[in-house]
Amino acid sequence: MTQAQTWSQRFEKALHPAIATFNASIGFDIELIEYDLTGSVAHAKMLVKTGIISPEEGQALVNGLETIREEYRQGQFNPGVDAEDIHFAVERRLTEIAGDVGKKLHTGRSRNDQVGTDTRLYLKDQIQQIRTQILEFQGVLLDLATNHVHTLIPGYTHLQRAQPLSLAHHLLAYVEMAHRDWERLGEVYQRVNTSPLGCGALAGTTFPIDRHYSAELLGFDRVYANSLDGVSDRDWAIEFLSASSLILVHLSRLSEEIIFWASQEFGFITLTDSCSTGSSIMPQKKNPDVPELVRGKTGRVFGHLQGLLVLMKGLPLAYNKDLQEDKEALFDAVKTVKGCLEAMTILLSQGMEFRPQRLAEAVAEDFSNATDVADYLATKGVPFREAYNLVGKVVRTCLESGKLLKDLTLDEWKSLHPEFDVDIYDAIAPLQVVAARNSYGGTGFEQVKSALQNARDRWEAAQS
Ligand code: ARG
Repeated sequence: MTQAQTWSQRFEKALHPAIATFNASIGFDIELIEYDLTGSVAHAKMLVKTGIISPEEGQALVNGLETIREEYRQGQFNPGVDAEDIHFAVERRLTEIAGDVGKKLHTGRSRNDQVGTDTRLYLKDQIQQIRTQILEFQGVLLDLATNHVHTLIPGYTHLQRAQPLSLAHHLLAYVEMAHRDWERLGEVYQRVNTSPLGCGALAGTTFPIDRHYSAELLGFDRVYANSLDGVSDRDWAIEFLSASSLILVHLSRLSEEIIFWASQEFGFITLTDSCSTGSSIMPQKKNPDVPELVRGKTGRVFGHLQGLLVLMKGLPLAYNKDLQEDKEALFDAVKTVKGCLEAMTILLSQGMEFRPQRLAEAVAEDFSNATDVADYLATKGVPFREAYNLVGKVVRTCLESGKLLKDLTLDEWKSLHPEFDVDIYDAIAPLQVVAARNSYGGTGFEQVKSALQNARDRWEAAQS
């Protein structure tokens, strides 16, 4: 079949070769082949059910489509640019295999509703896989948190030492983010799960098709109510890219922390050999390539979200060829999110180790217990603001004399305020500072233990 024959007799000449290449999507939409075949099988069965084609014709179509699937899986189906896209490629091969009956497959549908069906089937699969990966990632965070309830780590605001934390509490913050990501993708899935098949080119079809039947065969929950909307809606793709962008925001924030935790300045973790690389010139280097790449790849996914929003904003109803550009964005975002989740899961489980000794030293050598001194006085009746001002003065004096709060003698404490007593030393010890923050959702060990249990239960329930 020549290019001119792909379309109708309206065309006498073939496309300019450069335009054929420019126009073709087969180079990337081959990714959709399995979904295209599955969608066509359902369409053929629907044509039989509604009496539009005979059962024998339907069987010949289904057999032909399954033969193409086999050929593809064996690496024997490699359509070129002359096929234009996956839909034409399959139809052409089907007609070669099954004969003239192959030409009946496209009855009552258009490539516009077909490509929408394929991409939604693809994305449904991918969303399920990504959700499973998010659970694996969460599982590793939960295991780490379980091992580090009593490991302390400095907590920061403005990247200035603020108050010490249970390391588990810090890790559980990422578990919460991951849970929202998992939930959000589940919500996006609901909307992806709507069938456009049978919307035709834009207006429906003259054939007595049964859209609900083909939707049911394909596992869609519902069908588009409006044919124009069905063929031109890409909200679901934008929602997916938006949910993916948030996943990457979370992975990128964690990456940034891991990168500075691994620096000599922080020294909170060591990178194991399995996930870090060396330098070609500086023999002492061990580089955190994995979190750096995750942080770097985040931008691609934001870019795809932006690209698709811009793609859609000026599109008149209904299908426009601009929509062909949605696929590479989706495919790349899917690949990027999956790759980043996998790499971060490996990094957390085998690529890094916390250094409890170094962390313990870090929390003992700063003024992150200053709030606790103010709280101590406030508990003894001194108004908090007054206590806060006094402790500010104490910190300044300490800084001038090169001391920490724990180095002050009881006499020095008492000279600062008569309410200070010997129990101040306990109150400002890092473990006590953390334990004391026992308000709901806080870093106190009791809170962290119950948060960990809740997160674990929720995670187990999500597996089913
Ligand atoms: N390859 C096309 C795409 O990806 C399929 C739909 C073509 N429809 C059309 N009216 N030209 O969007």
